[in-house]
Amino acid sequence: MAAATFSATLVAPSILNSHSETNTASSSFHKPKISVFAKPKSICFRSSGPRICRVFNANKFVRTEVNSRAAGVIRANAAQVAEEARPSAQKEMEVVDVDLGDRSYPIYIGSSLLDRPDLLQSHVKGRRVLVVTNTTVGPLYLDRVVAALTHGGSNISVESVILPDGEKYKEMGTLMKVFDKAIETRMDRRCTFIALGGGVIGDMCGFAAASFLRGVNFIQIPTTLMSQVDSSVGGKTGINHPLGKNLIGAFFQPQCVLVDTDTLSTLPDRELASGIAEVIKYGLIRDAAFFEWQEKNMQALLTRDPSALAYAIKRSCENKAEVVSLDEKESGLRATLNLGHTFGHAIENGIGYGGWLHGEAVAAGTVMAADMSYRLGWIDDTLPKRIVKLLKQAKLPIAPPEEMTVDKFKSIMAVDKKVADGLLRLILLKGPLGNCVFTGDYDRKTLDDTLRAFCHS
Ligand SMILES: NC(=O)c1ccc[n+]([C@@H]2O[C@H](COP(=O)([O-])OP(=O)(O)OC[C@H]3O[C@@H](n4cnc5c(N)ncnc54)[C@H](O)[C@@H]3O)[C@@H](O)[C@H]2O)c1
Ligand SMILES: [Zn+2]
Repeated sequence: MAAATFSATLVAPSILNSHSETNTASSSFHKPKISVFAKPKSICFRSSGPRICRVFNANKFVRTEVNSRAAGVIRANAAQVAEEARPSAQKEMEVVDVDLGDRSYPIYIGSSLLDRPDLLQSHVKGRRVLVVTNTTVGPLYLDRVVAALTHGGSNISVESVILPDGEKYKEMGTLMKVFDKAIETRMDRRCTFIALGGGVIGDMCGFAAASFLRGVNFIQIPTTLMSQVDSSVGGKTGINHPLGKNLIGAFFQPQCVLVDTDTLSTLPDRELASGIAEVIKYGLIRDAAFFEWQEKNMQALLTRDPSALAYAIKRSCENKAEVVSLDEKESGLRATLNLGHTFGHAIENGIGYGGWLHGEAVAAGTVMAADMSYRLGWIDDTLPKRIVKLLKQAKLPIAPPEEMTVDKFKSIMAVDKKVADGLLRLILLKGPLGNCVFTGDYDRKTLDDTLRAFCHS
């Protein structure tokens, strides 16, 4: 497909919204449409305690409901969940649905969700669970996850494997430890793997679940902001190869994602800011109102105001869920989630993985993408300024590190996954705030100008 045509089909969000009109039940921006001629059908998957039900209408996924025997049927993504489906001590919970037909799943977002045995137990298939975590997160939260799984004589038996912490362990040897444990403890096809940790654990555990016995049930409990707003949603799983990041993997969707916002209280500041870079991305590529909200609420996010964080996570998940439900396997639209990432990956690779956090590299990459968009005449000059201001406020970098030269950028970007037929396609901003394109149809000289503007040599 010609790049120009391609970019034209990927203008977001106005065209996107019209494409998705029949398919937007996953997003709480739109009310689920219930047609009058077909009776909704529910598929529920637990017979004891509160049940989680998926409602279909004319075979189309509509929404997730939490059915509580005590409280009656509650629509999970409606505000009254907070009022009726939980014991009075529990706080509000939001549910965002990822609409992928029979592989649809809910993202639960709220405080104290690790203390909600019903949620976790409802998504466990069989009686055997393997929790995959690491040496940092395990000591903080593993006991609570085990307690939730076994609460009330659930009959669920739980094993765990604690991996070393760090991106450098997202590789085959460490993955083998997960399989070793699963085989030693005789996990069978009806077992459930649970990822408890940040994106590294989520990607590894997800890939292990995708490949163990050709695929077992999988639950994500993301504990970094990065994983809560991005990596736990959408089913991309995988590990690194010595020759490149995320080169070995599979698309494999979880049964549910459980985001307990309280886990962010132990997250280091720098990791929090790294996640904020992805939150900013959603506003820029498709959600102007969300970007404007961030401009007003960045301080609340940085001071970890619980309701600000919960809102940012929910809105990010809604955006990601909608994109993923329209383009699960990244044939086009999903690539727009990579705003700033081509420049960012070059930075991560150029200075050596681990030098900068992913979100830090994405932040600098976003400024570079905005600069190039402005040079192309696709956005006005106020937008790059607003982006820089917001990133600075979040204490994120707004330029690449000194060691990144023009040549280094060029040589690394030449092998980017988004190169097709020798043409580097980029996600660039175009039009008013909240619009972007994924395109290879731009003036090469403009890319050079941007690189020269940000690099010393
Ligand atoms: N699958 C996807 O779609 C996708 C998307 C974006 C990123 N990723 C991947 O995610 C990874 C980055 O994820 P990340 O930023 O979460 O990094 P991470 O998993 O390395 O976590 C960052 C650090 O925070 C620690 N940590 C996690 N939760 C904590 C908590 N609650 N309290 C204290 N410390 C905690 C971790 O142990 C680690 O040291 C990369 O490997 C990236 O490739 C995947
Ligand atoms: Zn990213």
